[in-house]
Order: sequence, then structure tokens, then C-alpha cells
Amino acid sequence: MNLDAQHPLATGRTADSRLIRAYQGTRPDVTPVWFMRQAGRSLPEYRSLRVGTRMLDACLDPEMASEITLQPVRRHNVDAGILFSDIVIPLKLVGVDVEIVAGMGPVLGKAVRNAGDVAELTALDPAVLEQTLAPIRTAVARTVAELGSTPLIGFAGAPFTLAAYLVEGGPSKDHIHARTLMHADPDAWAALMAWTAEVTGRFLRAQVLAGASAAQLFDSWAGALSLADYTRFVAPASAAAIAHVRDLTYDEAAAPVAAGTDAAASVRRNVPVVHFGVGTGELLKEMHGVGADVVGVDYRVPLDEANRRLGGLVPVQGNVDPAMLAAPWPVLEAHVLDVLERGRTAPSHVLNLGHGVPPLTDPNVLTRLVAFVQEVTAAAPAAS
Ligand code: CP3
Repeated sequence: MNLDAQHPLATGRTADSRLIRAYQGTRPDVTPVWFMRQAGRSLPEYRSLRVGTRMLDACLDPEMASEITLQPVRRHNVDAGILFSDIVIPLKLVGVDVEIVAGMGPVLGKAVRNAGDVAELTALDPAVLEQTLAPIRTAVARTVAELGSTPLIGFAGAPFTLAAYLVEGGPSKDHIHARTLMHADPDAWAALMAWTAEVTGRFLRAQVLAGASAAQLFDSWAGALSLADYTRFVAPASAAAIAHVRDLTYDEAAAPVAAGTDAAASVRRNVPVVHFGVGTGELLKEMHGVGADVVGVDYRVPLDEANRRLGGLVPVQGNVDPAMLAAPWPVLEAHVLDVLERGRTAPSHVLNLGHGVPPLTDPNVLTRLVAFVQEVTAAAPAAS
């Protein structure tokens, strides 16, 4: 389906940005950069705005969510905004009892442990999201109007990461109950994953239709899985979630081929989809295979090795180790240059962290890092 004519990709406002070009596999003049969790506790302006408002209430207040999304874009001059929200928002909006506990993460009112629990959960109809996602659509529209030519990235949690919270009832180290359920009752597991894929897929699609220029699916906890379990019990649901945005296209005017050629042809393009996981070095190829255009790499696998595992054909995003942000600048600088160098082996590269910004990060380090990446990559364009 073609995006609305007013969408920032369709009007061309964001279509020629560094981020979108890199996501499409073309190396822009300067390497684009943004940070996972760039909005949030590392910023004093975020901390003061959040006083007295609970996390999920902040996400559902369009004015606040939009302002928090814009804060790091203004401050750091990054190449993208990412909507301030949370992966559990669509669960809440479909009727699940979930809260975010500070310093801990999402906590469910009731863990989903067996077929009966799954039946109760999946009785919640994902179609209600068409109404209840309204504050998210408003937040996206407000943000995109402010961002101009800077693209907004929409995001969602992948079905496994959401299922991991649902089954555990909260954060977990090894996700053992979720991994047990997939083997103990594959039918209940499949029903849970299909429902979760629809809920999270609708959340992602709503953001793109409202104006986001790219979409990122976070499978933060897929690194807990073996390749066999990922392929059998998780990949089909991730593909189903991505399918909710995979059909979204826009037409871009092509440069005239030769003088005297009639009306310039246009090229149909799809909205780029990034797929990211933590500790998923063994799953990179499969995570691309579920329908992603770009693979986000955590800090454990160097980008040249990730590129090799991906067959050399896939744009990559990553993978500065967040721990380095608190190291002396020369140490961080050397690490970033190494990441950029390894990233040059891939068709294109978007610089990011290997996971989110740690809350205690000095925001001035992030600002300096953005300027550094823009400066060094402009001075030394890649050959390929
Ligand atoms: O800037 C951005 O990247 C956009 C905002 C964003 C948030 N959560 C805001 C948030 C994004 C993309 C997420 C995704 C998310 N949420 C993931 C996937 C990415 C990842 O980090 O692996 C996961 C696993 C969650 C679940 C979740 N929500 C956790 C683990 C936490 C941390 C709890 C804590 O307090 O340490 C949250 C809460 C959360 N989501 C915060 C923010 C800014 C912190 C809450 C606060 O500021 O009070």
C-alpha cells in the first residue's frame, strides 16, 4: 500500500536523508548516527519533564512524548529521532495489566504460564488498537511536523521479547519459563506468538502510517535462544510482525536518465525495517531473513564479522560498546574509529550503540561523539 501523499517519505522530506539512504544500502557522504535510548534519563531536561508522571502515562501523553522525542535531536544533532514510547505500550492499549517499575522494567499483573492463561490473554481483541493507539498517532504526527527533514524511527518489541515479559511476568535473566513453554506446549506458544505479533505489528504500522520514516523491531532477549529454537518457535512470528509494515511503499522521482527523456520515471521504495537483538550474533542471518532490510548488531560481534555472517549484502547498524561512553575520550575515540573502519566492509553503516544509552551517561559525550563521527566520516569517505 502506498503511503499517504503527505507522509515525509512521499513528499521527499526525509527520503534523501543520510539515514534513509544508508538503510537502503547506499553509502551517504557522511555516516549517519543515532543512539538507542537517546531519549531518557541521561538528559537533565528529560528528568525534569518526567517529575510526577509515570513512564507509561508519559508515553500516552502526546505532547510530552513528542517533546521527549525531540530533546536528544536538538541537543545532539543526531540523524534521527526515535519515538519516545515503550515496547509494552501496545500490550497496555489492548488491555493487559502492565506497568513499568523504575530501575527494573515492565512488570505484569499476571504471568502467562499455560494454555489457559494464553487463551485468556488472546481473548483480548487486537482490533481495539485501531482506537486506543490514537495518542501514539498524535505523538508521531506532532513530532514529524517539528522534525522537518530529520526522519523519525518508529519501533516495536519483537514477539519473543514481549512474550518473554508476558510469560515471566517481568524482567528475567534467562527467560526460562518462556523457553520451557515453547517446548512444553508448542500450540499454546504458537497462539501466544501469533497474538503478540499482531498486537506489536499494529503498533508499528500505526507509527509508520502517522509519519515515521523507518521502523525498528527490537528483539532484545532473543539472544537467550538457540538457533534451532529461534528458527522454529520465534522467526515465523517476527516475520508476521514485520509483515504489518512490509507492504508500505512510496514513489520517489528518479533522476532523468538522459536529456530529452520524457517524464521522469519514479522508483517504488519500501519503508526500511531494522531488526536488532542483544547477544544475537549466532542469529544474525535468520534475523535478516524474517524480512528486515537492516540488521542492528550489539557490541559483542565486530561489524566486519557481522557483515561476513550476513553475506556482505546487508546494511548494518551499531555497535559502539555503551561501556566505552564512560571511558576517557581517547579510549572512546579509538573504539569509534575501529567501529567505523569495520563498518566500511558492509554495503552501508549507521553508527549506533550496541545497546541503549546507560542512564548515567554524560550527555556531552554523546554530543561530542556525533560531531566526531560526522567530522571523520566527511573527511574520509569510504571507497565503496
Ligand atoms: O530513545 C529511545 O530509544 C526511545 C525510547 C525507548 C524506551 N524503551 C523508553 C524507555 C525504546 C526504544 C524502548 C524499548 C524497550 N523497552 C526495549 C527494547 C530496547 C532495549 O533496550 O533492549 C525493552 C526491552 C524495553 C522494556 C523496558 N522499558 C526496560 C527494560 C526499561 C528500563 C527500566 C529501568 O528503569 O531501567 C523500560 C523503561 C523505559 N523505557 C525507560 C525509557 C526512557 C526508563 C523509564 C524512566 O525513565 O523512568
